[in-house]
Amino acid sequence: MHLPDMKIAKDRSSKENKYIDLKEDYQKVFKDKKFFLRTYGCQMNVHDSEAIRSYMEQLGFIETNKIEDANVVILNTCAIRENARDKVVGFLGKCKYLKKNRDDFKIVIAGCMSEQEDVIEDIRRKHQYIDIVIGTHNIYELPKLLLQEFDKQVVEVYSNSDEVIEGMNYARDSKYSAWVNIMYGCDKFCTYCIVPYTRGRERSRKLENIVDEVKELKNKGYLEVTLLGQNVNAYGRDIGETFSHLLECVAQTGIKRIRFVTSHPWNFTDEMIDVIAKYDNIMPYIHLPLQSGSNNILKKMNRRYTKEEYLELFKKMKQRIPGVAITTDIIVGFPGESASDFEETLDVVRTCEYDGAYTFIFSPRKGTPAALMEDNTPLKEKEERLYKLNELVNFYANKNNQKLLNKEVEVLILGDSEKDQDKVYGYTDTMKLVNVEGPKDIIGHIVKVKITAAKSFSLDGDYIEEKVTN
Ligand code: 5AD
Ligand code: SF4
Repeated sequence: MHLPDMKIAKDRSSKENKYIDLKEDYQKVFKDKKFFLRTYGCQMNVHDSEAIRSYMEQLGFIETNKIEDANVVILNTCAIRENARDKVVGFLGKCKYLKKNRDDFKIVIAGCMSEQEDVIEDIRRKHQYIDIVIGTHNIYELPKLLLQEFDKQVVEVYSNSDEVIEGMNYARDSKYSAWVNIMYGCDKFCTYCIVPYTRGRERSRKLENIVDEVKELKNKGYLEVTLLGQNVNAYGRDIGETFSHLLECVAQTGIKRIRFVTSHPWNFTDEMIDVIAKYDNIMPYIHLPLQSGSNNILKKMNRRYTKEEYLELFKKMKQRIPGVAITTDIIVGFPGESASDFEETLDVVRTCEYDGAYTFIFSPRKGTPAALMEDNTPLKEKEERLYKLNELVNFYANKNNQKLLNKEVEVLILGDSEKDQDKVYGYTDTMKLVNVEGPKDIIGHIVKVKITAAKSFSLDGDYIEEKVTN
């Protein structure tokens, strides 16, 4: 049997496609077999799952949402907090049960958990029913591994964190809005975070390859791209490029909407702000994680900025980018966080009046420096802080949303509303979710919507008979 013919862009200059050379042999092996794919965690994982799905479909597999019918179960895992890991472990119990007495039921663990040594150790000792463990850097090896492993049981991890993979195929979730990886990994080493260990060092894709991908998406009818990286504004530092230059080049493709996540306050330059302000197709929305409002805690987190520097950057963004919406991430209960440190975080929230925030209780990750720091705050106290923080965050999210009441906004309509099947849903340029009363044929268009109700997490609106795109 032949193995898929694939090349790896080790020198980052290759534009070789990582399409599988589909020999009939593979399709014979996998034809009509079914796969079940479950994704945990961040957008990076969601996008990786689009690559996994594409490989599976190319091999001849059919996707199923009934795990009992599957021949291959793939869990694309997340390691960022313990509860993410717990969810995977819980689900694995079910997989183990289903696998009993079935030779044609293979379990694949992909994603960030696969990059953690203690997890691998656990799998070797306790979870030997798992067939394949594949890392975050080598998804393209999945077809080869599946071919190899379908008839014998081994656990292996392949990973090379220096590679930049070009030409991946993606079976994208949406026909209108696409994720585009611009870089992999993170070098920041925030002391609480597992990502630098699971996703490796910062590696940027070549600018031309990214721009070509955006042009191709535009030609296929995509209206929106979201540039993805753990730390997008560090883009290019390893290859003599800058994020502001990349943004400008992507804007010049003329694609209707450009977004990017996630930004780090530390190297967000004035040029980046200028480019965002200059191009109408770069959306006025920035996710700018604060993590803590206390300089003492920011230092312990190794965030590389002070509260004052963060606030100055925030102010500049608000002044120079008209109508910009800013959201954030905040961790409460970091080791050593005192009641007054926490009050400082609340103060920053009051100053910034964020459009929204993802809030978390600190979760120690094995192998990170913060996991070894002394932590005297009881969980109950941390939960109370989280509750208080959420109240405040929701208050400002709601306040910002109320400002849109009775206003006309442009919304990219992405599909049927989950809440109400008679409605459709989409996002404003500022990334606010809107459930829209309107005909189904506006799906896939940017349309004008009049906002009729505003809540903390979403808006309601009526379609105005005027399409902005067609
Ligand atoms: N505990 C709690 N929250 C964390 N995050 C990252 N690591 C941890 C951790 N160990 C949060 C940060 C980050 C977001 C994606 O997840 O706020 O910005
Ligand atoms: Fe983790 Fe910090 Fe890198 Fe974000 S910047 S991925 S929080 S190490």
